[in-house]
Amino acid sequence: MRTIELRSDTFTMPTPAMRRAMADAEVGDDQYGEDPTVNRLEKRAAEIVGKEAGVYVASGMLGNLCGVLSQTERGDEVILGDLAHIYQNEMGASFVLGSIQPRLVPNRDGCPTLEDVEAAIRPQGMFPRTSVVCLENSHNNCGGSVLTVAQTRAVAELAHRRGLRVHLDGARIFNAAVALGVDAKELCAPVDTVQFCFSKGLSAPVGSILCGTAETVAKARRVRKLLGGAMRQAGVIAAAALVGLEEMRDRLAEDHRNAKTLAQGLAGVGGVRIDAERVVTNIVSFEIAPDWMDTGAFTKACAERGLRLSRYLGNSPRLRAVTHYGIERSDIDDALAIVDAVLSRARTPVAAAD
Ligand SMILES: Cc1ncc(COP(=O)(O)O)c(C=O)c1O
Repeated sequence: MRTIELRSDTFTMPTPAMRRAMADAEVGDDQYGEDPTVNRLEKRAAEIVGKEAGVYVASGMLGNLCGVLSQTERGDEVILGDLAHIYQNEMGASFVLGSIQPRLVPNRDGCPTLEDVEAAIRPQGMFPRTSVVCLENSHNNCGGSVLTVAQTRAVAELAHRRGLRVHLDGARIFNAAVALGVDAKELCAPVDTVQFCFSKGLSAPVGSILCGTAETVAKARRVRKLLGGAMRQAGVIAAAALVGLEEMRDRLAEDHRNAKTLAQGLAGVGGVRIDAERVVTNIVSFEIAPDWMDTGAFTKACAERGLRLSRYLGNSPRLRAVTHYGIERSDIDDALAIVDAVLSRARTPVAAAD
């Protein structure tokens, strides 16, 4: 039985070109700054998002940690959306390890409002110092929603006017750029630091990068080392990331088309609650009507038929299906057939009782 893996775009396999590049990678000791492939990746990634410098890290979470901790001091406060990945899905690492505290603002649609951000900035005096605002684009826990250039600029202008820095969790920044039809540089121009992942839609096996000014990235390098994240012959994995960066950005549009097709198909299945209009990138968020079928039983029944879905935040009623390299249009048709079969079976006893 073929598995249709929609739990995350982190399940992507390296492309044949990546495997060749990894085998042939020129390497050195990255902690000495002497891995030529890592150096090339950092330079190219920074150029693509329009920043001075970049530091290659093992994961998106480490990229966020390097971004936040290089721009805060113990006791500081960081403003971020209550659904932010940094807050919800990273074990509170930035706050635990940085001795800083989160100041949450609502962000149901992805971007917090200017009013909420402004109100959350502490006045000077006997209060924690507010030092950073974190944004996320695309927004994982908000169904892959995107922040426009104007939204990003507005938050950043406010933050900068009040002396704050802005860190962007751009794990899927190229999904956002493709969905909006803008250059990733434009989405990143207003922010001070951006981290993005090679290991999601770009399909590389490992790694993320934090980009910003040369000065901030130098600090972030120290944070990476402090956290045990400095690497050695990392060119072996950076080679695959370079292929992802050069060859896999444009094809994200295909993942978005598949996600839209899936969302529109789900909207026609009895028992599914979804707003297909809101699906603009590769993440499809939906629910199963509780009077139709239990969510856990639904995901289990789908998995038994080869369709893997995930639950938001581990136990929320919202489900997530993520399209990516390796998922074809025919897989979407098969996924819809499985969902339909599972839900129509579930309905039978209720219908019989009527
Ligand atoms: C928005 C966002 N930020 C950060 C991360 C963390 O990336 P990693 O799993 O590589 O640590 C993820 C992972 O899913 C994510 O979705």
